[in-house]
Amino acid sequence: MTYPIRPISEAEWPAFAGVLEEGFNTTPHPSQEARWKAGTEFDRTLAAFDGDTIAGVTSVFSLTMTVPGGRLPVAGVTAVSVLPSHRRRGILASLMRRQLADIRERGESVAALYASEAGIYGRFGYGRASSNLSFRVRTEGTGFVAGAPHDPSLRLRVVKPAESRAAYERVFASVVGLRPGRYERNDSFWAGVLADSEADQQGAGSLRSVVAEDDEGVRGYALFRVKPSWDAGGTPEGELSLYELEAVDPAAYALLWRSVLDRDLVSQVQAVSRPVDDPIVALLANQRQLRAGWYDELWVRLVEVDRALAGRSYAAPVDVVLEVEDAVCPWNARRWRLSADPTGAECKPVDDEPDVTLPVRALGSAFLGDGLLAAQLGAGLLREHTPGSVRALAAAMAWDPKPWTGLVF
Ligand SMILES: CC(C)(COP(=O)(O)OP(=O)(O)OC[C@H]1O[C@@H](n2cnc3c(N)ncnc32)[C@H](O)[C@@H]1OP(=O)(O)O)[C@@H](O)C(=O)NCCC(=O)NCCS
Repeated sequence: MTYPIRPISEAEWPAFAGVLEEGFNTTPHPSQEARWKAGTEFDRTLAAFDGDTIAGVTSVFSLTMTVPGGRLPVAGVTAVSVLPSHRRRGILASLMRRQLADIRERGESVAALYASEAGIYGRFGYGRASSNLSFRVRTEGTGFVAGAPHDPSLRLRVVKPAESRAAYERVFASVVGLRPGRYERNDSFWAGVLADSEADQQGAGSLRSVVAEDDEGVRGYALFRVKPSWDAGGTPEGELSLYELEAVDPAAYALLWRSVLDRDLVSQVQAVSRPVDDPIVALLANQRQLRAGWYDELWVRLVEVDRALAGRSYAAPVDVVLEVEDAVCPWNARRWRLSADPTGAECKPVDDEPDVTLPVRALGSAFLGDGLLAAQLGAGLLREHTPGSVRALAAAMAWDPKPWTGLVF
């Protein structure tokens, strides 16, 4: 059975939203739904139809994402859902194929997404491209190492998040280009970051904020919620959930972390998503106070292997012939010679003998600089024909700092 696919009109929003709510078992607050609708790109929002019924959906945000050495247009795949009544009939698979063809036609060479489950997207050529740390810190006795930065010209100011967006945007604009995986935020993303209805709070308390500034202006901000509580004996057990902490320099960064860790009546800080190389790891004198889990974050798919690989920078020289396997986007399935060094890169179709044979998802996973290609070789998922070629490719594609996105789309 086939399910015709086409972009939806704005009038079809309720049925589209209904499929997402069924798929994700959610009932968004009207303010959340309005925000979500305002950010939707309807011409990039696809539905698969069973007669008049929308049975499956997906959408794309047109993102500008930081990649190693620059920024690229990236298709931010979102809102993927199939009605429970129609699952496992191939609807997701047909939506994915149509969406990838549309992305290619639009000229974007890379797609990226956050996955609800890690097992879904590898078959469509997406590879785990970044990871995050989710950690808890017991705040008692969290000193910093000797030599931690201190700038006496900096001071903290408590601000209202809803009134401080301009300052956040200025700080964010100066950090967004520093780390692969980050993307520029439009109005609707900022509205999501600062949303603070009871539904947004989810019992964690209202959104609060502190900025670090000097006479020249704001140099960093923290956005968080605090859930106050006391144990039976009257000892404060408040929990602070940290959403964002961005700073333009190490001194502002350290001061903001101090304000979070030193907040009165808080015994525990929970950071849901931080970079794997977050400087806080180096700042804490007792690093064991940081109890971290390591999770997949962004999944990346090279929609056009050659344009994508030529569109980023490389940390070391490499000259390899890659034999790419790609059943979903067959235009990628051939041999490519990647010749790159820190000054530039090109990727050309060739018929030469391959140095490495690899599935396209392996290149997606390495694209932002954190692909663990050697681990994939060790797992037997890549076939190396020229000894050392995977290590050379891995060294060239690795990037510092590590990729991280931070804000789910
Ligand atoms: C995940 C979801 C979109 C799959 O839709 P679907 O139409 O049932 O998927 P398909 O029938 O096209 O399946 C395609 C393939 O993916 C596999 N697959 C589907 N859902 C999967 C899952 N959750 N985990 C692992 N594999 C999955 C299928 O087994 C099938 O495998 P095959 O290629 O070996 O045959 C659907 O189950 C859903 O809406 N889930 C809830 C919402 C959600 O998690 N959305 C994803 C947001 S990122």
